[in-house]
Amino acid sequence: MTGGKRGAGDRGLHVRVKTAAKRKESSTRWLERHLNDPYVRRSKIDGYRSRAAYKLLEIDEKLNLLRPGLRVVDLGAAPGGWCQVLADVVKSTPEEPLVVGIDYLDMDHLPGVVLLKKDFLDEDAPDALIAALGGHKPDLVLSDMAAPTTGHRKTDHLRTTHLFEVAIDFALTNLAPGGAFLAKVFRGGTENQLLTDLKKSFDSVAHIKPPASRKESPELYVVAKGFRGNRAASRDPRLIEGEGDGED
Ligand SMILES: C[S@@+](CC[C@H](N)C(=O)[O-])C[C@H]1O[C@@H](n2cnc3c(N)ncnc32)[C@H](O)[C@@H]1O
Repeated sequence: MTGGKRGAGDRGLHVRVKTAAKRKESSTRWLERHLNDPYVRRSKIDGYRSRAAYKLLEIDEKLNLLRPGLRVVDLGAAPGGWCQVLADVVKSTPEEPLVVGIDYLDMDHLPGVVLLKKDFLDEDAPDALIAALGGHKPDLVLSDMAAPTTGHRKTDHLRTTHLFEVAIDFALTNLAPGGAFLAKVFRGGTENQLLTDLKKSFDSVAHIKPPASRKESPELYVVAKGFRGNRAASRDPRLIEGEGDGED
């Protein structure tokens, strides 16, 4: 893996895929797009398990979230592109793992990363994540979770917004003071209240759509930096009085 520098401007040959008798036209279109995607090609060269790795690299390039020594929780980690980037940048080792990923899908082992095969919505998932970090609070909570798509836009939006909401809850309960939160959301109105809640607990809240996120995808990312302390503390009026909204 190169640890890699950003963007994927290569110009390989365009691959055409014929619709096979058993394959639907939509699957053929997906396959053709996948095979011709420069980020997919680049991930093969750089040794990343997913093109998603470049989204995290591009977000980090803009917002400087990652640095050596940070403890990180990665929600919805499979197949593990973000975990690869994280282990590399925070310098996590098998002796002292600083990165914990969770997904209900199987993931191949990654050195320096504790991978939990589990549904994050399970009641005991938060405790399992913190235990995997040796009882330490994470400095960074990331969520790239997306519910499997149904094709019904409103349903997909609601389900992914629910994952976003539970991820916020985990972050507000567990983050170390000064920590940061990054999560995928779908474009749409329902998360406004959630953003307002985040602004009360973090110094700054911003939206970002990295170039690696496909233009036609409704996804974008919310990045909240400068966590002001856990829930109990943020309810303390001395901490919230007079503090303005962060950037958006
Ligand atoms: C876009 S993929 C993540 C890609 C990953 N960031 C990478 O770099 O390889 C979204 C992941 O979220 C996971 N996911 C969705 N809902 C989940 C849940 N309730 N608990 C755990 N994982 C979940 C899916 O299984 C899927 O692997």
